[in-house]
Amino acid sequence: MQNEKIKAILEEGLKQIEKAENLDDINELRNRYLGKKSELASMGSIIATLPVEEKKTFGQEMNETKTTLANAIDERMNALKAKALEEKLQRETIDISLPGRESNLGARNPFHIVKDEMTEIFLGMGFEVADGPEIETDNYNFELLNIPKDHPARDMQDTFYIDENTLLRTHTSPVQARTMEKAQGKPVRIICPGKTYRRDDDDATHSHQFAQIEGLVIDKNINIGHLKATLELFAKKMFGEKREIRLRSSYFPFTEPSVEVDITCANCGGKGCNMCKGTGYIEILGGGMVHPNVLKMNGYDPEQYSGFAFGIGIERVAILRYGIDDIRKFYNNDVRFLHQFKKKG
Ligand code: PHE
Repeated sequence: MQNEKIKAILEEGLKQIEKAENLDDINELRNRYLGKKSELASMGSIIATLPVEEKKTFGQEMNETKTTLANAIDERMNALKAKALEEKLQRETIDISLPGRESNLGARNPFHIVKDEMTEIFLGMGFEVADGPEIETDNYNFELLNIPKDHPARDMQDTFYIDENTLLRTHTSPVQARTMEKAQGKPVRIICPGKTYRRDDDDATHSHQFAQIEGLVIDKNINIGHLKATLELFAKKMFGEKREIRLRSSYFPFTEPSVEVDITCANCGGKGCNMCKGTGYIEILGGGMVHPNVLKMNGYDPEQYSGFAFGIGIERVAILRYGIDDIRKFYNNDVRFLHQFKKKG
């Protein structure tokens, strides 16, 4: 470099830039070396006074110096920015070694677990799910099921009356009548899970509100063997392959013959123990062949059609399945009870 002054400015500038510690320093240096009032800028006017042969070199040296300084400043600035970012990241790192807070997941009520499982079993056998209202008329709840007014069977099914003809259904059986009415004489194969009500004093085994799954099959040539096979398959799927069922004769006004169905006790395998009160069997449901009067009243010719029906208490199945000792536990929403049915994993 021919011009000593430019050379000095360049050397001093590069030294200063190297020493810059932060962005403020850089901005100050940019101003000092490249700004309008910088030494280099003020030297620009000298060019006019120089002899022609020196003008070119002087101009070149001025430009080169400005470019070199500008590049050095940019470079230093970028390095400082990167350093600042690095420091910021260091300062703000999160300590991921702290254990996270576990979120408290709920558990399904065993009532619903069992209801869904029972429903699935019947769906697998080709049943469809039907529905009906919980606030029912006397006609569907009793009359169309062969339980006329003043029939003694009404005593066992006292319930909550809204008015003389409107009540909370005492069983899911009114869905039988409603389904037959809709099917208009065609074959039927339905189940209906739903809530039912009775005027009962609540204790460990009684509740004024409970739930049943109703089943109804109507077709030509349906016999009690179909009922038995259906319920046997259900019992084995629900309680295990080793379980057997037993049909005991019983009475319901809407089935004839009527049966009460027991399964072999899981606790003793049928030998007799405390749980089955020494009988070897535990009752799980009621059922039977649809009474000809019921078929007739609901639009079927009993000479051509026959059918079977059953009603299973859902809580009863859940109680047996899980060994629950009090029916009220299904409704009290005590999380200590519910958490026992939490899915693992
Ligand atoms: N509805 C009867 C009850 O609640 C059970 C049942 C249903 C019996 C269907 C026979 C046929 O006790």
